[in-house]
Amino acid sequence: MYNNILTAHNSGITTITINRPSKLNALNKETIQELHKAFDTANKDAATKVIIVTGSGEKAFVAGADISEFANFSVDQGGQLAAKGQELLFDFVANLSTPVIAAVNGFALGGGLELAMSAHFRVASDNAKMGLPEVSLGVIPGYGGTQRLPQLVGKGRAMEMIMTAGMIDANQALNYGLVNHVVTLEELLPLAEKLASKISRNSSVAIGAAIQAVNAAYEDGVNGFKTEITEFGNCFGTEDFKEGTTAFLEKRKANFPGK
Ligand code: COA
Repeated sequence: MYNNILTAHNSGITTITINRPSKLNALNKETIQELHKAFDTANKDAATKVIIVTGSGEKAFVAGADISEFANFSVDQGGQLAAKGQELLFDFVANLSTPVIAAVNGFALGGGLELAMSAHFRVASDNAKMGLPEVSLGVIPGYGGTQRLPQLVGKGRAMEMIMTAGMIDANQALNYGLVNHVVTLEELLPLAEKLASKISRNSSVAIGAAIQAVNAAYEDGVNGFKTEITEFGNCFGTEDFKEGTTAFLEKRKANFPGK
């Protein structure tokens, strides 16, 4: 069904694997379109409680946007490349109501780190290397990197990473708060699945509302505290809230309908 990605579903978790290992999983146009479709499908699938995104092979999560595709672009085409990419993939993923965990299994460079940063949080294997090398190519990060990196690691660290075009290793990424956990490559997917399974026991409706409220803090002209109040209130009208509070009072585990 897809040429550049693999999808698998197991116990409420959909795993999307970018699968162009010979090109270190670089994001060409077709891969971005396929990822859009796969994320959209998983987000609409009631059986999918959490999405994990990772790269195939042992070397790379994603080594960036496919440089060979845009080397000859004009100013207009460059602008469109960034706008379309953000609409189809990066902003799209960040704003999904289904939680997305990035399992960073190697190089996450340029668009690869931007994809990992669009996910709701990140875990990494100890061989992972992360960076935004765009200025070494005469361009800047165009898939949200100049915005999301400072949000995650602070302005000074982001400026240094962007200006030097250098890479940080997994432990430094952990130290910066860019990733939440670092484990061996063998332990990476099991860890992501363990976190996903813990998430999937909670109310998916409440989780979707929490994602929206947290993201509101980073949107221009939106008051995140107001969004929180609205989303909090909305939860009281859901079946999940009735089940969650009833189960607590009846001293049993909640079995959320996800509505
Ligand atoms: N776009 C297109 N192709 C890419 C790519 C990218 N972002 N990153 C890697 N590839 C391709 C290489 O061209 C090579 O293809 P080939 O075998 O047909 O020549 C293949 O993937 C393997 O990469 P290679 O460079 O040989 O591996 P390496 O181990 O020597 O180096 C990297 C690994 C990640 C350091 C190096 O590939 C690199 O610097 N990639 C570009 C990173 C980048 O600048 N990304 C930001 C883009 S905006």
